[in-house]
Amino acid sequence: MRRPVDTPERLEFRRMQPEDLDRVVDIERAGFRNPWSRELLARELDHAWSHIVLAVDRDAGAERVLGYIVFWLVHDELHVLNIATAIEARRRGVGRALMLEAHGAGKDRGAVVATLEVRRSNAPALELYRSLGYRQVGIRPNYYQEEGEDAIVMILDL
Ligand SMILES: CC(C)(COP(=O)(O)OP(=O)(O)OC[C@H]1O[C@@H](n2cnc3c(N)ncnc32)[C@H](O)[C@@H]1OP(=O)(O)O)[C@@H](O)C(=O)NCCC(=O)NCCS
Repeated sequence: MRRPVDTPERLEFRRMQPEDLDRVVDIERAGFRNPWSRELLARELDHAWSHIVLAVDRDAGAERVLGYIVFWLVHDELHVLNIATAIEARRRGVGRALMLEAHGAGKDRGAVVATLEVRRSNAPALELYRSLGYRQVGIRPNYYQEEGEDAIVMILDL
């Protein structure tokens, strides 16, 4: 069976468009217990400071969205709000490639630091961020109020 993506080099990146909402909502719902709503994702598309970048696998003209990252660029800070990889494409470098794409976009626009919050229990995401050099700088107690879960605050010098 052909794998959806063989190497990160095969990935392409592009800005999300309104017509991508259905696919992004599907990945979001599969990835999170408390997914962002369609309305929230649509609203992010309208904010000048917000960026949603898709990782796409293109094959014979057809493209498949494999993941996305949402980040804000404000002054010299890149803030990562959300990232998810489609379940069938996980552990093939898509998440890391999306993070590096965001770092590159941030650096191009003068960002010197990247920040994010992550659930204490989210081992895959914590491992991804640590592998990229993010370090823990604080904890926001009870940040995810539905489950009363703490957020780990992480930072990376770009
Ligand atoms: C976190 C997430 C985006 C990672 O995406 P991915 O495309 O599978 O990640 P990659 O293949 O690029 O993995 C890069 C590194 O992250 C770490 N990692 C990723 N998944 C992991 C897992 N399940 N367990 C442990 N480490 C993991 C590893 O260090 C990995 O490097 P390696 O494969 O060489 O060991 C994905 O698991 C996901 O969509 N999760 C649900 C949504 C979510 O929790 N988002 C984070 C919100 S803060």
